[in-house]
Amino acid sequence: MSTSTHPAAHRVPANGRNVVVKQSFPAAAKLATPTDLSPQEAQAITSALNPLVADLIALYVKTKNFHWHLSGSHFRDYHLLFDEHADQIFDAIDLLAERVRKVGGTTIRSISHISQLQTIADDNDEFVTPGEMMRRLREDNAALAKAQRAAHEVCDRSRDYATASILEVLIDEALEVLIDEAERREWFLFEVTQGSDNTN
Ligand SMILES: [Fe+2]
Repeated sequence: MSTSTHPAAHRVPANGRNVVVKQSFPAAAKLATPTDLSPQEAQAITSALNPLVADLIALYVKTKNFHWHLSGSHFRDYHLLFDEHADQIFDAIDLLAERVRKVGGTTIRSISHISQLQTIADDNDEFVTPGEMMRRLREDNAALAKAQRAAHEVCDRSRDYATASILEVLIDEALEVLIDEAERREWFLFEVTQGSDNTN
């Protein structure tokens, strides 16, 4: 089971009433969703998924940032493409966050909490060329796919085979679909950057 060894966990958030986010497992009694999973399994899943939720939110904002601040001859194509990707990412955020709640953990609370867990860097550059946007998003999606594979392994290892098989299938399907989506986005972005003379 991985505990909080994330490098970003040591950052000091810039805002927030309660600057330090309490541990995500175990949850407060009123949020402790009943589960057949052992506390160790539920904690492992929570620890694996919450950084993914934070990264998905960071990547969602970055993709929207590029959607909003695009300039160039491919404006329409990329503008629409980034919005499609943002929609996929947005759906994944809720799916994973609710997986955490279903196993009895708690999930993302705030922007400051995200900043403690995210591994995908924010992008505050004043101007980014379309080609560079593509390159950065491709890199982030590759990193995300890798993290999703690692989280999938943790979920695999943490299955309680006494729980209903449907829960097992849902864990598998949810994460595998997300991995597929990340890979598809990565592939699309790779192809778009081939021969992109007028986008660099
Ligand atoms: Fe838009």
